[in-house]
Amino acid sequence: MAGEFENKTIFITGAAKGQGRGVAIAFAKQGANIIAFDLEKKIEYPAYNKSSTQDLELLKEEVIALGGKIEIYSGDVRNAKDLQNAVEMGAKSFGAIDILFSNAGICAYGLSHELTENEWDSMIDINLKGSWLVSKYVIPYFIKQNSGVIIYNSSIAGLRGMNRIAHYAASKHALVGLAKSQAIELAPYGVRVLTIHPTGVNTPMNDGLAEMEGATPIEIAERSAGNLLPVPWVEVEDVTNLVLFLASDKARYITGSQYLLDAGLLTR
Ligand SMILES: NC(=O)c1ccc[n+]([C@@H]2O[C@H](COP(=O)([O-])OP(=O)(O)OC[C@H]3O[C@@H](n4cnc5c(N)ncnc54)[C@H](O)[C@@H]3O)[C@@H](O)[C@H]2O)c1
Repeated sequence: MAGEFENKTIFITGAAKGQGRGVAIAFAKQGANIIAFDLEKKIEYPAYNKSSTQDLELLKEEVIALGGKIEIYSGDVRNAKDLQNAVEMGAKSFGAIDILFSNAGICAYGLSHELTENEWDSMIDINLKGSWLVSKYVIPYFIKQNSGVIIYNSSIAGLRGMNRIAHYAASKHALVGLAKSQAIELAPYGVRVLTIHPTGVNTPMNDGLAEMEGATPIEIAERSAGNLLPVPWVEVEDVTNLVLFLASDKARYITGSQYLLDAGLLTR
C-alpha cells in the first residue's frame, strides 16, 4: 500500500481498541507494517477492561481488508517475556521496527488515600513500567539502525493534578521524565522520544469509566473539565493526526518535547 509510511514498521501497545486501534488503521492506510500488541483477556483492575483476543483479530481483519500488513501479539505490558517475544517476532517478520507508539494504559477513579496497594501498583505497572519495558526491548533495534521514534501516550494528567486520579496522574507525569531522559540518551543515535498529552478522548476508556462511576460519558469528559474550545472531548482521529505528524520526517528535529492536544484546557 502506497503512503507516507511505506516500508516503515510501527509497534503499538494497546492496539486493539481506542487510540491504539485508530493509530494502527491510520498507519496501515499510509503503508506502514503494523505490529499490534494487546491483552488477550480481561484484567482484574480496572473493571471496565473486557479485553479479548477477538479485538486483535478484528483489527487484523480490518488492516488486511485495507491491503495492509499486520502481526498481532497478545500479552500484558507488565510481562517482560510477552513484550520481548512480540518485539523480536515482529521485527523478524518485517525486518525492522521504526516507530514505537507506547499507548497501552488504564484509568480509574479513587481518592489517593483510599486506593488499595493493588490499585496503585496496577496503575503504575501498566501505564509506566509497561511503557518503559516495551521501550527497553525496542531501543536496541533503534540504536543498531541509528534511527527511530518513540511516542508515549501520556495525558493532560501528565502535566497537571486531577481530582480522584492521583495514581493515573503520577504514572502520566512519570512518562515525561522517562521520555526526556531517553531523548538525551538516544539523540546521538538519531532517535527521537516524545510525549503527547491529550485532553479527554472519545474512546472505550471514557465509556468504561462512565459505567464504573454510574455517569454518562459526557459527564466523565466534563470532569477533566475546562476545554477552552466548546467540545466535551477530542476524537481518536485528532490524536492520530498528531501521532502521524510526530512520527514523520516532518518532525525530524522534534525530540524531548511534550505535545499538548488539549482543546485549550491548560491555557487557563
Ligand atoms: N480516553 C481518554 O480520554 C484519554 C485521554 C488522554 C490520554 N489517554 C491515554 O491514551 C491511551 C489509550 O487509551 P484509550 O482511551 O484508547 O483506552 P482504551 O481502554 O479504549 O484502550 C486501551 C487499550 O490498552 C489495552 N491495555 C490495557 N492494559 C493493558 C496491558 N496491561 N497490556 C496490554 N494492553 C493493555 C486495552 O486492552 C485496550 O485495548 C492510554 O494510555 C490513556 O491513558 C486517554
